[in-house]
Amino acid sequence: MSSPPVFGKVIMSQLQDNFGRRFHYLRMSVTDVCNFKCGYCLPDGYHPNGKPSFLTLSEIEQLVGAFAEVGTQKIRVTGGEPTLRKDFTDIIRLIADNDQVNTIATTTNGYRLEEHAQEWYDAGLRRINVSVDSLDPRMFYQITGENKFDKVMRGIDAALEAGFERVKINAVLLKDLNDKDLPRFLHWIKSTPIDLRFIELMETGLGRDYFQAHHLAGESIKQRLIAEGWQLDQSDVDDGPAKNFSHPDYQGRIGLIMPYAQNFCATCNRLRVSATGKLHLCLFTEQGVDLRDLLQAETQRAELVERLHAQLRLKKETHFLHQGFTGVTQHLASIGG
Ligand code: 5AD
Ligand code: SF4
Repeated sequence: MSSPPVFGKVIMSQLQDNFGRRFHYLRMSVTDVCNFKCGYCLPDGYHPNGKPSFLTLSEIEQLVGAFAEVGTQKIRVTGGEPTLRKDFTDIIRLIADNDQVNTIATTTNGYRLEEHAQEWYDAGLRRINVSVDSLDPRMFYQITGENKFDKVMRGIDAALEAGFERVKINAVLLKDLNDKDLPRFLHWIKSTPIDLRFIELMETGLGRDYFQAHHLAGESIKQRLIAEGWQLDQSDVDDGPAKNFSHPDYQGRIGLIMPYAQNFCATCNRLRVSATGKLHLCLFTEQGVDLRDLLQAETQRAELVERLHAQLRLKKETHFLHQGFTGVTQHLASIGG
C-alpha cells in the first residue's frame, strides 16, 4: 500500500474499507423532488413526505469540506432532479471553491439544461449525465411520463456548445419498451461525442412489478456490441462498475452497467449522501447513517471525519440484490441513483 497522498502541507486520511476499496467519489443528493415520472423510479410523480427539509447551502459546504478532507476528488450532485433547486448554481460554485475536489458532475433529466448549460459550466460543472431512455419521442414520453424529448435533446446540444467535453447519456434497459432502440442510439453516437451508458434495471422496494415486467440483462447488449466490432476498453480504477466499449468508426462510446453481473461490487468507488444528510455505504443494503448533526459548524469537522472512517469499516463486500433483497431503497429518487 502506498503512503497517503500529500496535498500541499495537508496529509490526507483517505477513506478505505475492509476490502481495500478506496472512496474518492461522492454522490451527493440535494433534493428528492423530481418533475418527471419515470416508470422505474417515480411512476406516480414525486409526493412530498411531510415537509421536506433538504440540506442547506451551509450544510452542503460542511459536507463537501469533510469529504474533501478524506480524499474525495469527484462529487456528483444528484437528486431527485438536482437542477430543480433554486440554488443549484450556488451549490456548483461552492464545490468548485474547494481545491481538493477536481471534478464536479451532475445527473439530470435535462429539463433545465437548454437554458442553463452555460451558467452551470461557468460555475465549474464539468461532467453532465442526462437521462434519455429512448430516442423515439413517443417511447420517451411513455417511459418518463413527460412529453419533453425535444426539449431534452436541445439541452444536450446546448451542453455540447457550452463547452462540456463529453456528455453522458443514461438509458435504462427496458424489455418491451426501449429494447428496439439500439440501432437509433448507435446511429446517434456515430458522429456525436456522446458516452452512452446502458443501465440494467435495478429492483427497488416500490418497483417489483415493473422490474419483473421490464428487466433485461445487459449481457444481451454486450454480445450484440461485440458481434458488431465494439471492443471492451481497459478499465481504469476511476471508472467504477461500468464496462466501457469503443469502436473505431464511432465518435461516441458505450458503457454497460450490470449490477447483477458477477464481481460488480469489486470496483465500487463511491459513497452516497441523501438529500437529508444520511450517508449510504451502498445503494441497497442499509438505512443510512445521519451526518446532519455534524454539519452545523466547521468546529465539528474532526468528529465528522471520524464518523466517516468508522462507517467505512462497516461497508459490506457486496449487495444482496440476487436474493431479491433491495434494502430500504423504495426508489432511486430518494438516494440519487
Ligand atoms: N434501475 C436502474 N437505474 C435507475 N435509475 C433510477 N432508477 C433506476 C432503477 N430502478 C437511474 C436512471 C436515471 C438515473 C437518475 O437513475 O439511469 O438516469
Ligand atoms: Fe426523476 Fe430521475 Fe426518477 Fe426519472 S429517474 S423520475 S428523472 S429522479
